[in-house]
Amino acid sequence: MNHFLDIHTTDADALRGMIDHAKAMKDARAGRPKGAMDDEQPLAGHMVALIFEKPSTRTRVSFDVGVRQMGGQTMVLSGSDMQLGHGETIADTARVLSRYVDMIMIRTFDESVLHEMAEYASVPVINGLTDRTHPCQIMADILTYEEHRGPIKGKKVVWTGDGNNVCASFLHAAGQFGFDLTFTGPEKLDPEAEFVNFARSQGVEITIERDAEKAVAGADLVVADTWVSMHDAQSARERRHNLLRPYRVDRKLMGLAKEDALFMHCLPAHRGEEVTNNVMDGPHSVVFDEAENRLHAQKAVMRWCLGL
Ligand code: CP
Ligand code: NVA
Repeated sequence: MNHFLDIHTTDADALRGMIDHAKAMKDARAGRPKGAMDDEQPLAGHMVALIFEKPSTRTRVSFDVGVRQMGGQTMVLSGSDMQLGHGETIADTARVLSRYVDMIMIRTFDESVLHEMAEYASVPVINGLTDRTHPCQIMADILTYEEHRGPIKGKKVVWTGDGNNVCASFLHAAGQFGFDLTFTGPEKLDPEAEFVNFARSQGVEITIERDAEKAVAGADLVVADTWVSMHDAQSARERRHNLLRPYRVDRKLMGLAKEDALFMHCLPAHRGEEVTNNVMDGPHSVVFDEAENRLHAQKAVMRWCLGL
């Protein structure tokens, strides 16, 4: 069994294999109704717990549907309704859940919760987002890029705005999948040095460019995310908006990237803030393919975790 905790701690060949497997599974069920079962039912007889300590639309629904398409069953648990939210330790929760379910997906705040869950669970644990990383999102993003434009290796990805949890997993993916990444955002919201250093240690080029227009020149992929993440204090909202406004992706900025560049956003988007409507709904945007590919990518992740 394998845990899927982060992109940089998962073997690069295994990551590549999961992307290829996801694509094959997606192709195999093309045109079928969403509720149709896959031909293969590797999760038959398996129960998966989906724990959410933060809100979710995509992660929640895509994991739930994915497990069912592969023949398994799910239970969706809200952290605050569990004893976990009332003082039971993570370790004890992990031990107990491992007696009932075959796999655990958790969305939480501090990544120490995820790591403690993985340490004490005897079943695979999947990171469904923490304050620091969002690896499942990036698996869907790589799948989406490659479906539209072929191998991402050697391409130029530009991250705009906040150096947040999704940006961190993009930096990890740059190292593991071999693409260059330019971060453009205010210095106060730079990604942590640890994430940048990991990518650089893998031999890819990581550039920090404060000028968004310069950063986007020649980009194959431009990525935006919310300016205020779920773990950010609402009191910081105005300060963040003021810092991040120069990094909004509008048609003019997107027009400076390569002609065939893609635009991605993990969603939920705040239209008119980090991205304008004409980019979200414009010809470069693949944001809804990304959302769909959460389903396909995570099915491959779950099979890898269970060795199925
Ligand atoms: N992108 C993403 O993780 O969306 P949700 O917060 O809706 O799960
Ligand atoms: N950075 C965002 C991603 C949401 C999927 C957040 O953590 O709120």
